[in-house]
Amino acid sequence: MKRRTFLEFLGKGTVMMAIPSGLLVACSQANDNQNDNVLKEFVGIPPSSNDELVLPEGMDYQVLIKWDDLISETERFGFNNDYTAFIPLEDKKEEGILWVNHEYTDTLFVNSLSRDSKKTKSQVEKEQNTVGGSILHIKKEGNSWQLVADSQYNRRITARTPIPFNWDSPIQGADQAIGTLANCSGGVTPWGTILTCEENYDGFYGERNLETGEIERNKYDMQWLDYFDYPTEHYGWVVEVNPLTGEAQKHVALGRCSHECATIAPLKDGRIAVYTGDDHNDECLYKFISSEPNSLKEGTLYVANTKDGRWESLDYASQPILQTNFENQTEVLIHVRKAARLVGGTLLDRPEDIEVDPVTGDVFISLTNNKPKGNYHGSILKIQETNGDYESLTFESDTFLAGGKETGFSCPDNLAFDHAGNLWFTSDISGSSIGNKTYKSFKNNGLFLVPRSGKQAGQVIQIASAPNDAELTGPFFAPDRKTLFLSVQHPGETSESLDKFTSHWPEGGTSMPRSAVVAISGDMLDQIQNMA
Ligand code: FEO
Ligand code: CA
Ligand code: CA
Ligand code: CA
Repeated sequence: MKRRTFLEFLGKGTVMMAIPSGLLVACSQANDNQNDNVLKEFVGIPPSSNDELVLPEGMDYQVLIKWDDLISETERFGFNNDYTAFIPLEDKKEEGILWVNHEYTDTLFVNSLSRDSKKTKSQVEKEQNTVGGSILHIKKEGNSWQLVADSQYNRRITARTPIPFNWDSPIQGADQAIGTLANCSGGVTPWGTILTCEENYDGFYGERNLETGEIERNKYDMQWLDYFDYPTEHYGWVVEVNPLTGEAQKHVALGRCSHECATIAPLKDGRIAVYTGDDHNDECLYKFISSEPNSLKEGTLYVANTKDGRWESLDYASQPILQTNFENQTEVLIHVRKAARLVGGTLLDRPEDIEVDPVTGDVFISLTNNKPKGNYHGSILKIQETNGDYESLTFESDTFLAGGKETGFSCPDNLAFDHAGNLWFTSDISGSSIGNKTYKSFKNNGLFLVPRSGKQAGQVIQIASAPNDAELTGPFFAPDRKTLFLSVQHPGETSESLDKFTSHWPEGGTSMPRSAVVAISGDMLDQIQNMA
């Protein structure tokens, strides 16, 4: 990493966070020869191919909940858990609602059916119940987190739940969609609701060819269209969920694409800026600025022109080129990828998760990779809005960290800042690429830490290694400052049949692999999070 870049990252942090004493003592005792303010070196873990969630000494995990566990009398935890967010109940730090996304499903595990078999309607319905999200009431008992089993809050939202559009015109003839799906990452609003983002929706109900108007199925087609003729235009939105009631709405104003996440930067007057990435090769980064406090219904959507450092407006009324290509604002938003190109949006290398640095205010965006362009390892982009103003329509951008052998990570995806302002990120090397060719040395996917202060500031330290085929997603630091919630998603996803699992995590032996949410804790995590 270039020295200049990490000094910029340190920013105000070096001032605010004087070097702590006794930090990161869990590992090497080397270099502790002068005074207490000399940091002991923190040693992470090496890359691993073990079928385990590997953590350094000083950190441990418990499985909080896994696929198919009952969460109420009738509902079960969904498949492929991704984004997690903890909302405290009555300001309690050790009791609250954990929201969990369920991104996609796999009929091999859910229906014991080989993936190329013809599905029945009831098998499709079963799959529809495995995606969406879970609302879980959880509580810390002693040192472990538990589901409050009989809580009124526990419920599922699925691909079968009716969800209205928060928009004044109908979307493909309807004012509500059936279900949410492809729920990848998300965000939390300042008013305590969850944003869950519909990402690769086209595997479920296809995508419309804009030339022919016909629906085309993609290579991952789930066969849901065989039984449910739902319009593809009803998916690919940012969905807001009230974690206390389960009420949900789809926000048209943020556009329709493969939304990875929706990350909020509050403005001074109660309005918000929302950053969202479109996870696809050669797609764009967006910013939405709301026009009313505490609402995402109305506002202006912009697309990033990183070449010129400008946010380009996608407002129909003020963009003649949109007026010559679309009928109205609703059409612009439904086909936002096409509109983004027309106004000069820069095509990026899979913009995935986004976080705002709590210390400097800079915006970090994972650009995971772009294999057709020869970008195999991706990078993390940093955007500085002019004058640090999230309403600004100009910005500067630079590569913060590049993946590759030199930095020891590849394909960055989810980002999170901990309570001390350290940056954490996960990697997303696809299941079929793990351990192969250019990805060989990285071994299984991981979780990485970039300390903000201390002598390791700006270095990349691997903290966790995922079980076989899995991706670590949804890192969320709990308000107790002692817990990191983390999703372990799709262990064993390259298994070809039920008698040939490629992973047995988390139950071991010959068991079927199951995605699960874990709670990570331990002395080392405490020390990292109490650096300030
Ligand atoms: Fe679902 Fe872009 O990861
Ligand atoms: Ca992701
Ligand atoms: Ca994140
Ligand atoms: Ca990803």
